[in-house]
Amino acid sequence: MIKLNKLTAGYTPGIDILKEISLHVRKAEIVTLLGPNGCGKSTLLKCIAGYLTPNSGQIEIQNNEVGTIPIHRKVRDCGLGFVPQTDNVFTQLSIKENLLAGGQFLTRLDCRQRIDELCERYPILRKKWLNSASSLSGGERQILALTRALMARPSVLLLDEPSAGLSPKMLTDVFEAILNIRKQEEVTILMVEQNAIEALHISDRAYVLAMGKVALCGNAKELLNDPRMRELYLGGRAA
Ligand SMILES: Nc1ncnc2c1ncn2[C@@H]1O[C@H](COP(=O)(O)OP(=O)(O)OP(=O)(O)O)[C@@H](O)[C@H]1O
Ligand SMILES: [Mg+2]
Repeated sequence: MIKLNKLTAGYTPGIDILKEISLHVRKAEIVTLLGPNGCGKSTLLKCIAGYLTPNSGQIEIQNNEVGTIPIHRKVRDCGLGFVPQTDNVFTQLSIKENLLAGGQFLTRLDCRQRIDELCERYPILRKKWLNSASSLSGGERQILALTRALMARPSVLLLDEPSAGLSPKMLTDVFEAILNIRKQEEVTILMVEQNAIEALHISDRAYVLAMGKVALCGNAKELLNDPRMRELYLGGRAA
């Protein structure tokens, strides 16, 4: 469960990028965050992840206030997994080394078991086991980024544009992987996306940000047909 209450944050004193944002994601829900470039979507995820300390407001993960806890402690102690928009794998390292890095807080035995479990689910990882991550295709790379975050068995997963730059086929594969993660691990997922229609199809609910505020929120299927949504964000495209 993630809950934000009137979250205000920014990078420069006196300039707020996020302005009193309140939102929630229930256990095992997939919620998508939409909005134009630069409106603060990544900033919001960075705040929840602990890369950025909010100026005011509260952030709760699993009913614990975590607003000032840094990222490494959130991963270790609060069940958080974060896949950032850029640099989400170690490109110089192999698939194996990336997964070991994701399992750094696990015991050796647990780490090995978790790797076996994830490689069984995503055979491509074993297939490219000792190759460097830089040799992966865009979709394979996103799968690696997801599985690296899954190593620590997070209860909450933040995904920043998991389908960025992917072909329609790869997008479908990555979204299917996200749906399966929810099903197999009951993870709570907050995902930022530009492919709004496709993302809404796999989401339960969505929030649309505009100029650092929540402009619209609701059930994903309803938003697909909401004329305000088309006006604000989809540019008139039909669902
Ligand atoms: N590290 C930073 N230092 C200063 N300003 C930043 C920093 N990161 C982002 N910003 C600014 O904060 C605002 C929101 O950026 P953010 O990356 O959150 O947008 P976004 O909604 O994720 O955009 P996009 O869809 O392009 O990824 C932008 O004006 C951006 O220039
Ligand atoms: Mg962004």
